[in-house]
Amino acid sequence: VIDTIIAREVLDSRGNPTVEAEVLLGTGISGRAIVPSGASTGAHEAHELRDGGTKYFGRGVTKAVANIETRIAPALCGLSALDQMNIDSAMAKIDNTDDKSSLGANAILAVSLATARAAANSVGLPLYRYLGGPMANLLPVPLMNVINGGAHASNNLDFQEFMIVPHGAQTFREALQMGAEVFHTLKDILTSRTLSTSVGDEGGFAPNLNSNDEVAKILIESIEKAGYTPGTQIALALDVASTEFYKDNHYCVGKEKYSSFDMITQLENLVKNYPIVSIEDGLAEDDWEGWKLLTNRLGKEIQLVGDDLFVTNSKRLLKGIREGVANSILIKVNQIGSLTETLDAIELANRASYSSVISHRSGETEDTIIADLAVASRAGQIKTGSLSRSERIAKYNQLLRIEDELGNQARYAGTTGLFNFRV
Ligand code: PGA
Ligand code: ZN
Repeated sequence: VIDTIIAREVLDSRGNPTVEAEVLLGTGISGRAIVPSGASTGAHEAHELRDGGTKYFGRGVTKAVANIETRIAPALCGLSALDQMNIDSAMAKIDNTDDKSSLGANAILAVSLATARAAANSVGLPLYRYLGGPMANLLPVPLMNVINGGAHASNNLDFQEFMIVPHGAQTFREALQMGAEVFHTLKDILTSRTLSTSVGDEGGFAPNLNSNDEVAKILIESIEKAGYTPGTQIALALDVASTEFYKDNHYCVGKEKYSSFDMITQLENLVKNYPIVSIEDGLAEDDWEGWKLLTNRLGKEIQLVGDDLFVTNSKRLLKGIREGVANSILIKVNQIGSLTETLDAIELANRASYSSVISHRSGETEDTIIADLAVASRAGQIKTGSLSRSERIAKYNQLLRIEDELGNQARYAGTTGLFNFRV
């Protein structure tokens, strides 16, 4: 039974305020969680409550913290932490808005996640086992964002994320090693060409390269030089995050202004020339017609992930499923703002044979809950950044711990995690 809920303003990996909540049970057992925050946020995401004013340039979260203490805590105290759906729906009732703008999605999510942690601790189970049950043994394939662009870096790349996907490993530990070796090889190559090796928000390098082709080529070179085979062992993936450069019905890439059709052609050319297995947000969040065409053209060959398009929202996902749009959903807990609704979206995706990619935000913290969520949900894929910056590495390290704990019951999603797209 929940006895006390404590909340505080803490900082995320960009030095911006975010919400931490601690749920204490009558038995003295507790659980804690910190909420992440995006930069290239979708228009349809749940509302992140910020203070405004001058403190932290308006980004303070003391109102969300106060909402936890004065509006959420009194309603939840006395309820069982084991009843996650009840907890989440109680908060939804108090909030009583579609986008959680009354309490703040950051306030609600912090309590939702901390409740799950407290509940897992109270029954003496690791979080992935509490949430996923006895069959939760699938370690996800990491989509590792080793070159950052777009809103996450100040270089000249329009596409936001260029990822390597070590699906050919036998274990998660081996996948991590492969990724780290490619990351370091890439660093050497960039250095040898006097390109910048400083990193962006998600820990990937942010060099000034002139084109997407140049990035793809340098990644292929790094994979080979590290001793791996591009494609069969380590594939490539993109997050275009195209909503960020969609203006007046056009995609503004460099000096070009592309229609949806032109964008699709660009993406098709990349897929033709490089071993790309997954493209996220290839088109903008409300370009449903374009997305239909994109799905018709590439949806059989590669994974097409909706991030800003679906915002972890079952209603938007259902529309996508009905209209034949995309074949995969990015799952970010703070886009929807509660654990129950996050698990609902994954469940709906499963039923429609859409894959789920469990994801961090560009503003992260030391909280590793998404690692447990990836294993619990058997999603088979995780996107949690590059091979530097501890807020990214923390999730990888948690997956190593889970793999060790599962021992010979652990399975690496590997090639099957990508549902046989091109691999
Ligand atoms: P964000 O970026 O957290 O800044 O939204 C991550 C993504 O677009 O996948
Ligand atoms: Zn994205």
